[in-house]
Amino acid sequence: MNRILEIDIDNIQVMVEPGIIQDALNDALKPYGFFFPPNPGSSAMCTIGGMIAYNASGMRCVKYGTTRNYVRDLEVVLADGTIIHTGSKMLKSAAGYDLTQLITGSEGTLGIVTKASLKIAPLPQTRKLVIASFENAEIAGQAVVKTFSKGVIPSACEILDRVSLQVLRRYDPKLVLPSEGDVLLFEVDGTESSAREAAEQIMKICSPLALSIKLAESENEMADIWAARKLVGAAVSRLDPTKTRIYVGEDVGVPIKKVPELLKKAQEISEKFNLPAMKYGHIGDGNLHLALFIDVLNKDEWDRLSKAADLIHRTAIELGGTVSSEHGVGAARAEYMEAQWGSALEVMRAIKKALDPKGILNPGKLGL
Ligand code: LAC
Ligand code: ZN
Repeated sequence: MNRILEIDIDNIQVMVEPGIIQDALNDALKPYGFFFPPNPGSSAMCTIGGMIAYNASGMRCVKYGTTRNYVRDLEVVLADGTIIHTGSKMLKSAAGYDLTQLITGSEGTLGIVTKASLKIAPLPQTRKLVIASFENAEIAGQAVVKTFSKGVIPSACEILDRVSLQVLRRYDPKLVLPSEGDVLLFEVDGTESSAREAAEQIMKICSPLALSIKLAESENEMADIWAARKLVGAAVSRLDPTKTRIYVGEDVGVPIKKVPELLKKAQEISEKFNLPAMKYGHIGDGNLHLALFIDVLNKDEWDRLSKAADLIHRTAIELGGTVSSEHGVGAARAEYMEAQWGSALEVMRAIKKALDPKGILNPGKLGL
């Protein structure tokens, strides 16, 4: 089920089967001058069906929003075999509950998506990349808050801390990256002049806080940096081949103003449990990927890892955030749903029961 069924430029949308890979969809849209903006780090291998299941987003949602902002209609097979459509090609509708949004992010617990109609967007004329380094991640977080509060909206805003930079240097030694500090990548897009103006504004706002700040010099330099950024999560094993990255506590998010506090607390937790951590991710959305890596044969390291991850999740909830910003809940984060949602979790349970009374759809997930 990996076909594109229709590219409907007049209605600015596409209809696809869920197995299509994100990058393949964008390759097909490029000749038309359009793209599907949600852009996870895993775009070379993630499927649109998966992206709908957990409302994926990635680098560009700071400007373009998450997958749920692009889903117009879903064909869904329900638990009893009924096939429904949740929307239409219409831009808007005031008729009834929004089942498209209910299914998006439901992680396969309410039905199986077999077709999706998605809004697309025109490709920007140009993109530019500002690379800024800071004495520490907390100051980088402050620079992000400052930039946003001045009304500048980049198309992407990522953090790569100093450990991430070490990993990237080993991954691709010819990458041109700052030699010190923790780094922010700000991408801006638009026309040549609007993108240049936004890049200059960001440089002006951030330079009093930065150790260094510059504009990427060429399309190639930008492409190399983004390609490396996308692989940084997997490439972490280059740092220490005896350690394996474990995906727990890796996807928390907080309101933008709380980002500096989250970064500070993440650092404290990594020190408290004596676990090295790589911090990277979509800082412009308040979404931090904290990569903890351990020797999987060492029980003590597993124990410390579980405690650290637990504290990270609870810290995010305390700061008014979420235990998962884009990777989903699944089984790994099910235990935090009660703490994050309180009585709203009962409403989710009632919906689950109504649509899947026998509990046959992805049982045990989402803490339901
Ligand atoms: C990333 C994915 C893994 O941002 O969420 O790299
Ligand atoms: Zn991500």
